[in-house]
Amino acid sequence: MKAGKDHDYAALIKSDRVHSRLYVDPQIFADEIQTIFGRGWVYVGHEGEVPKAGDYVLKRIGRQPVIMVRDHDGRVRLLLNRCRHRAATVCAEERGNARAFRCAYHGWTFRLNGELSGIPFPDAYGRNFHKRDFGLTSVPRVASYRGFVFGSLSPAGVTLEEHLGRAARELDLFVGLSRPEDVEVRAGINKYDYRGNWKLAVENSMDGYHPNFTHQSFVAELLHKIRSNPSPEHRSAFNPKSFSPGGGISRDLGNGHVMLDYGFRMYDPLNRDALPAVRATTPAGAQNLAELARRFGSERAADMLREGCTHTLIFPNLILIGVQIRVVQPISINQTQVCLYPTTLKWLPEEVNAIRLRCHEAFFGSASFGGTDDVEIFERVQAGLMADVDPWLLLSRGMHRERRDEEGLTVGDISDELTQRAIWRQWKRVMVQEHPAGSRRARSTRSRLARDEVEHERATAK
Ligand code: FES
Ligand SMILES: [Fe+2]
Repeated sequence: MKAGKDHDYAALIKSDRVHSRLYVDPQIFADEIQTIFGRGWVYVGHEGEVPKAGDYVLKRIGRQPVIMVRDHDGRVRLLLNRCRHRAATVCAEERGNARAFRCAYHGWTFRLNGELSGIPFPDAYGRNFHKRDFGLTSVPRVASYRGFVFGSLSPAGVTLEEHLGRAARELDLFVGLSRPEDVEVRAGINKYDYRGNWKLAVENSMDGYHPNFTHQSFVAELLHKIRSNPSPEHRSAFNPKSFSPGGGISRDLGNGHVMLDYGFRMYDPLNRDALPAVRATTPAGAQNLAELARRFGSERAADMLREGCTHTLIFPNLILIGVQIRVVQPISINQTQVCLYPTTLKWLPEEVNAIRLRCHEAFFGSASFGGTDDVEIFERVQAGLMADVDPWLLLSRGMHRERRDEEGLTVGDISDELTQRAIWRQWKRVMVQEHPAGSRRARSTRSRLARDEVEHERATAK
């Protein structure tokens, strides 16, 4: 049976709520993998993870194993990690430096650019066999922006530029306007798994409502430090009467890309030491710093470089928070892996790069104030979803106060669920396009939902 005929996705996602089934139904997971991860642009890795020829890291697009490798010509390639003989993976180490990939099963060997270079006892294949026909398969479309490498398993579709749209400017800010070779991903990975659906981590990363509660101890400590030693920036931004004392807004960037704009420093106040001054160590870095200072003022530019410039989701699963690149990897309907890669910039002095890493660890490290709280919540949500007598999750917060900013983008308050609604709109657009509602099974989803609602109303009326 062709996947994707089971559900009427338009009926499962309403403007102000979504249905539990989207997080618990294995058929829906299969459709997502086939459609969202099988056709669209998916972030794979940053060029800074493979700075030298032969450097490689193992990645995934959806569930397909991929090797991201820098070849001898300096080009970053995405090769499917599947031997062209009988499908064994040809690379088993998660990262390293290689001269070639040799399959452990029967010894076929592939160059860094994927070409098949050697076969043991090749005469057994006869004269019509050509090695050039059996290189490792490249991901059909590969494109990069500021060193962020994306792949698409579909040979056709919108360009990466079209997919990123306005969100590209957030990638510019994340890397401090740096060239790809100035972005370093050399500080290791924080990695965690949880027993829950992948979309819980995606939605949560752009949820400005939860920190005061889920991260209560962090927020209390942060506010204490800000109150006892406020910076000039905090003095002007800080309003203790507001829900979010620093103000800030949520913003829909289009195509499912969304952001939270906190507008002030989050993590620095936890570091007691005086913060080192930001300065550039290269001419290109000096240009970047000058440009950031021109746009944001020199104090804010320095803060942004020390603790990160944006808080953005690139649909479907790339998240940029603080100085970290975060990737949410779906494993199954109720199993997810999350990888956090803190970054440094080559043109910043070492002491500033060290501050970037300390700010990251304070909230996101494995023994941190924050990241662990969220994982606990994901598992509680997944457990709660099992109670589906009333199966809708409410996402209406702040709908009545959505507004346009000067760029024409839809914005809301920082704690509004504008971001979740925008993510789901894109999810629905993509899934409905691939799985139109006219199929027999889609009609049956609709009638099942209608029947559920009638039964629920009957039960609650008793
Ligand atoms: S499966 Fe790779 S050489 Fe046989
Ligand atoms: Fe959180």
